[in-house]
Amino acid sequence: MDPLLAAAIAAREHAYAKYSGFRVGAALELHDGRIVTGCNVENSTYGLTVCAERVAICKAISEGVAPKSFKRIAICADTERLTPPCGACRQILWEFCGDVPITLTNLAGVTREFTVGELLPEAFDDSLLT
Ligand code: THU
Repeated sequence: MDPLLAAAIAAREHAYAKYSGFRVGAALELHDGRIVTGCNVENSTYGLTVCAERVAICKAISEGVAPKSFKRIAICADTERLTPPCGACRQILWEFCGDVPITLTNLAGVTREFTVGELLPEAFDDSLLT
């Protein structure tokens, strides 16, 4: 199996999804080959929940990974219709990864490929802040 998909599936096991029961794993492959993972981390206030994708990005950036060092992304949830990143995560992925491939997968081994740009057309970004 693609190691990036395996990493997203394994990360999903760590999800703290006490309130929704909806477990998500994300994995980011860096250009140097390293993989950084994340899982969703919920909170009893609900609104403070953080998605798996943003946990992975924040982990990577906080460990010194430079923005735009990401080669591709994998996301795993146990849904028949594959789970795409939420709108907020799309914006964050665009900021730090740009238009890289995203593979969605589930526990049945179904996969589907997109790019970040396909999921967030006409994105707002820092090129507009001039
Ligand atoms: N969730 C993610 O981790 N990633 C997404 O892109 C969609 C939603 C999480 C947040 C929450 O813990 C649970 O899935 C249900 O929304």
